[in-house]
Amino acid sequence: MKGLILSGGMGTRLRPITYTNAKQLIPVANKPILFYGIEAIVAAGITDIGIIVGDTKDEIMKACGDGSRFGASFTFIEQSAPLGLAHAVLTAEEFLGEDRFIMYLGDNLIVEGVASFVEQFKRDAPNAQILLEHVKNPSQFGVAELQDGRVVKLVEKPKQPKSDLALVGVYLFDKHIFEAARNIKPSFRNELEITDAIQYLIDKGYTVRPHTITGWWKDTGNVEDLLEANRLVLDSLESKVDGHVDATSQLVGKVVLTAGCEVRNSVVRGPAIIGRNTKIIDSYIGSFTSIHHDTKIIGSEIEHSVVLANCLLENIGFRVEDSLIGRNVRISKSKAKPKALRFVLGDNSEVGLI
Ligand code: DAU
Repeated sequence: MKGLILSGGMGTRLRPITYTNAKQLIPVANKPILFYGIEAIVAAGITDIGIIVGDTKDEIMKACGDGSRFGASFTFIEQSAPLGLAHAVLTAEEFLGEDRFIMYLGDNLIVEGVASFVEQFKRDAPNAQILLEHVKNPSQFGVAELQDGRVVKLVEKPKQPKSDLALVGVYLFDKHIFEAARNIKPSFRNELEITDAIQYLIDKGYTVRPHTITGWWKDTGNVEDLLEANRLVLDSLESKVDGHVDATSQLVGKVVLTAGCEVRNSVVRGPAIIGRNTKIIDSYIGSFTSIHHDTKIIGSEIEHSVVLANCLLENIGFRVEDSLIGRNVRISKSKAKPKALRFVLGDNSEVGLI
């Protein structure tokens, strides 16, 4: 079997972060989201992996390398434009050939991995296998209707969903998906939807096997879900202290300090992770917080947040919570007169003042 990971697309819901950063590379517990998918596929014994790339291809290729560090071999496949998940499948047709494959959306995280689904697919050999999970907001996903355990209808982002069963971003296919993708029309959002391609398989009498999962799954497409994914992954980490902690600092609960980081006169309450060469000085880092590499937190308090690389948060004066802070951001208390708030914010930034 082969693997196909989708890492093209735009990431509009994570702007402004995704103006300068591929959404699949945003770190969750300091590791790019995309790497969780790659590791899950390799753990299922699949090492020949195609990665669909788009506008952010340079960044994705640089981060992933040739696959050897994951024990895999990567083939990067350029998609002309983000014209839909079924369009991405067609773009990868030459790479996939006659092989059966697992398709994994690069911004999805599935905690239980995919090995058992791959085993089941190999054993039962349906034409397609889809994963479903009950969700609170089905209209934001592809939604499945089941009858007697069989899938009868799939609708992409329905306004009035017929069930609460969302399509998880992991699919298993045989070669018939190419025939399906070639026979559907673009949707309301002008994309060739994989949901419609699977509906084609159902209508033509091919076997589409549903599998409902109960572990957690996150589509990290928006800030709230990304913070939630960060919370869940941090919770599963074990403490590891490779950085330096001075005598006046305190680590509470599960804390990961990466090599080269420094904690001075501060409290870090886990679960939390502090990246390489980051400095935490006179500060409080609260639960469910990931601070990436080469960042400085000085005289500040932050909790339930993700901070990317090369930032400075200094003497902020109020606790920062529920925040996603992009790379190279500086937030500091200024002594300049007149006393005022001064911003240089990118398009689509959001600031919550007290
Ligand atoms: O997360 C699960 C949902 O993923 C499913 O429930 C939906 O049925 C499915 O259509 C998909 O919906 P999204 O609207 O969340 O898909 P999104 O546009 O965010 O794309 C998912 C990933 O695929 C993302 O990493 C970008 C990549 N992509 C997307 C498109 C449209 C590509 O590589 N090429 C593309 O053309």
